[in-house]
Amino acid sequence: MRRDFSATDAVAQARLYVTALGAYEAYINGKRVGDALLAPESMDFSKRILYRVFDVTNMVGRGANVIGAMVADGWYGSYTSPQGRFAFGNPPLRFMAQLELTYSSGRVERVVTDQSWMISASPILKSDIYDGEDYDARREQPGWAAPGFHPDAKWSPVAIAPSVTAKLQPTVSPPIRRMGLLKAKSLKAVNGSWVVDFGQNFAGWAKIRVKGIAGQKVTLKFAEILKPDGSVDQANLRAALATDTYVLKGDPAGEVWEPRFTYHGFRYVEISGLSNAPTPDDVMGVVIHSDTSRTGHLRIGHPIIQTLWQNSLWSQKSNFMGIPTDCPQRDERLGWMGDAHVFWDAAAFNMDVSTFTQRWMADVRDAQWPNGAFAFISPNSMRDTAPNEASPGWADAGVILPWTTWQRYGDTEVINQNWEAMSAYIGYIAALSDDGIWSKGHGWDFGDWLALDSRWPGDHTTPPDLIGTAMWKHSTLAMMDMAKATKRQKALEDYTRLAEKIDAAFAKAFVHSDGTVGNGSQTGYILALRYNLVPPQLRAEVAGRLHDNIVSRGRLLTTGFLGTPHSLDVLADNGYASLVYDLLLRTEYPSWGYMVMKGATTTWERWNGDAGDISMNSFNHYALGAVIGFVYRRIAGIDPIEPGFRRFRFNPVLDRRVASGGAQYDAVSGRISTDWTLNPEGHFRLRLSVPPNTRAEVHLPATNQTNIRENGKPLASQSLGIVNGRMVIEAGPGDYDFAVRA
Ligand code: BGC
Repeated sequence: MRRDFSATDAVAQARLYVTALGAYEAYINGKRVGDALLAPESMDFSKRILYRVFDVTNMVGRGANVIGAMVADGWYGSYTSPQGRFAFGNPPLRFMAQLELTYSSGRVERVVTDQSWMISASPILKSDIYDGEDYDARREQPGWAAPGFHPDAKWSPVAIAPSVTAKLQPTVSPPIRRMGLLKAKSLKAVNGSWVVDFGQNFAGWAKIRVKGIAGQKVTLKFAEILKPDGSVDQANLRAALATDTYVLKGDPAGEVWEPRFTYHGFRYVEISGLSNAPTPDDVMGVVIHSDTSRTGHLRIGHPIIQTLWQNSLWSQKSNFMGIPTDCPQRDERLGWMGDAHVFWDAAAFNMDVSTFTQRWMADVRDAQWPNGAFAFISPNSMRDTAPNEASPGWADAGVILPWTTWQRYGDTEVINQNWEAMSAYIGYIAALSDDGIWSKGHGWDFGDWLALDSRWPGDHTTPPDLIGTAMWKHSTLAMMDMAKATKRQKALEDYTRLAEKIDAAFAKAFVHSDGTVGNGSQTGYILALRYNLVPPQLRAEVAGRLHDNIVSRGRLLTTGFLGTPHSLDVLADNGYASLVYDLLLRTEYPSWGYMVMKGATTTWERWNGDAGDISMNSFNHYALGAVIGFVYRRIAGIDPIEPGFRRFRFNPVLDRRVASGGAQYDAVSGRISTDWTLNPEGHFRLRLSVPPNTRAEVHLPATNQTNIRENGKPLASQSLGIVNGRMVIEAGPGDYDFAVRA
């Protein structure tokens, strides 16, 4: 659609406010406005419609101008499983814009979406998030959004749609952008088609350069895996067609095309309908994701751990698409709360998630049921079929994300914004759980989702009431911290009492006098220890049982989405450092290393990604990659102990199998950097940078000051004494080089 307008004076400033029920690309005088992709991103459009504001001063001039837009289904009109299309509203698609011109005289004029716009069909025949885009270049109308174009009979006045009742709000989070280009790693002829391997699983699309005759159709099929014959295998995408088509206009100079309003999760693309063999330069992989800036870089001297980090980072990129999604490829791409809950610790190391979280928490509140239960997906496109109850471990994202965000950036505003919603959630559980055990109102109870021993995905290998009660404690602990930070004294007292009540009830129901917890599953032990649900006198016994269980299974984890992320913390906290590394470095099935050895370039949804049920098998899910949070905190040694990293702890879990480790992390106060080495003789060295307004509590493997050199001289920093066999040193802002003799 387009509209001519005239700027009657010199333009001092021009701003475009724009959004759609659908997805849009806006143009002024033939040029694209901004570089946001797939805007506006996923949300509950019946409640809130986010717009963006662009400074377009340089795009508008005195005299004749044109504003235009292409509009497609986007998240509003595409299929969003299982509700079908238009999960949050009704057709038609709508476009809303307001161009505000401020003339040098100070006079303000507005060009808005009204009756005066003209519309015509575009070359995009169909575009859907899951299914892909069909484009017919013969239908292009060059210059359609520029002055001097004369709309012909194909153009008609737009229809004015009924107005919306949802709130219009500015977007606070970064847009989805084009974040990188990948070159083909290989290009093979298979059954008359061409299969390109980008060597990396990612989210985005392929950009192609083709030559041929008008009407010739090129088809691109996207997939994460290949069939034995080398063609793409889309079996794990379920109903998502993940196919783009391009019909050539027949330009003898060649044609370059990429889709606008869809995306795919893939590593391979199969191209058919070409007249000539493509060269690697004819097909590029375009990587897209929300432009949350990178804050963390791990440097661990072991290829398994380092690759595991890279893979989880790619899974984060692929799933940061306006909202945090579960996967980028099959017919879901939904804001699954459990996945985000467990991954946020790692996510907030890798990237600055402050505004991304702020944006999504508004969706989480929009999806919250009136009774206080947080939904299991936000936005909740399943609200017509799902019970209005809270799934343990999924709903908790509503508390844990604000907590994590406050911890990382030190700003209590995120607590205040979500306080009411978070207290309502705890209130929902409390009202159902008089006896201190959360057993009722679990809704769809996913349990320790995809645990190794489960016979089907949601099989309860750990008692659901144990998980529910542990999650309740987990969220209550976070509420206590947040109540304290925001001086909510009464709430702090209430939550403290609640925590004590849960502790007592949990111990009575699940902790047996011989140290067994629940049914003796690993996840039962892990959650009980992690959330302080074990009476102090039994802790060692319980931890020993976890250790023995893992060892008796062959030094492997049997845990799923909820147990896995905390497994290594619990082992490290209880003195099982060597088992931590056994698990991290393991390469046989099941393990993180197994995925790496199988050539994974992202984190798999399930331990047996290579062999599991194909319908529930994504190769790009970040939940099991949550362990990367542990690697930043407990191996690289950047462990936040005060909000905003005002204070952090360097106390790495060490093992001779890993000779070096470290990370850099851009905290709000500046760059923290750690680099340690441990040589075969046991000599340890740490190079450390502590930014302004930050203090580090450094635990060095020495019990005697004389074994430590600081910047080549005897120890100068203040020692705080020996804790667990390590010398603790207080380090203020500055750069340090500590050398510790074995
Ligand atoms: C999603 C998950 C999600 C789960 C809920 C799946 O289909 O992909 O990651 O958390 O359902 O149990």
